[in-house]
Amino acid sequence: MDLLIDTANLEGIKRIYDVFPIEGVTTNPSILKQEGKNPLEQLKKIRAFIPHGAQLHVQVISQTAEQIIKEAEFILSELGDNTYIKIPVFNQGIKAMKILSSRGINTTATAIYTPMQGFIAGKAGAKYVAPYVNRLDNIGFDGVDVAKNIHDMLKRHKLETKVLAASFKNTQQVLTLCEYGVEAITAAPDVLEQLINHQITSIAINDFNNDFASLVGEGKTMLDLKKK
Ligand code: E4P
Repeated sequence: MDLLIDTANLEGIKRIYDVFPIEGVTTNPSILKQEGKNPLEQLKKIRAFIPHGAQLHVQVISQTAEQIIKEAEFILSELGDNTYIKIPVFNQGIKAMKILSSRGINTTATAIYTPMQGFIAGKAGAKYVAPYVNRLDNIGFDGVDVAKNIHDMLKRHKLETKVLAASFKNTQQVLTLCEYGVEAITAAPDVLEQLINHQITSIAINDFNNDFASLVGEGKTMLDLKKK
């Protein structure tokens, strides 16, 4: 399962990239608003930092297919290869996805709340569909189940579109979709960090370090045993 970072915060992106195996970054207008900077300049900084082959998902704002296509072309000209154009799943968005994908432009269908939205976006040629797991949970639906349904339907109908599950608030949601086999998730830095943090692991590491220190000396490592 590919892991992407759902933030436009450069410090957060650098912190996660430093440690985690990451395939790219996803953004949306609300995420960019949190940074309070010129969105295009911020996206260019992200593009300049992440590896060349990494994905950068950037959302359009336009409301007609014609304008969405123009906006997508502009975003690609500014941010280059491996940019995925995020398009919400409304009528004109689906039309734009169909046209852009026929031109070989990578699109990510976003704001997905129902399995059929995911399926139709897949038929329209989207590379990824992004169901909003936690937002679905918050309105009384099972977000993980919706993501699983979309994954199953895309497979059953032999569509190449992948699920990029989004909107996570806890690691259990991520774990369940990882076990199930969805192709990708995107989560905020704090959620990604929680995927490896565990109190018991910290206690175990501490015990190992204390035992080694009592054997060899405080602050020593295996390197200190090198023959001089
Ligand atoms: C990603 O595609 C979505 O825009 C994002 O994950 C939404 O997350 P939120 O529910 O935390 O705002």
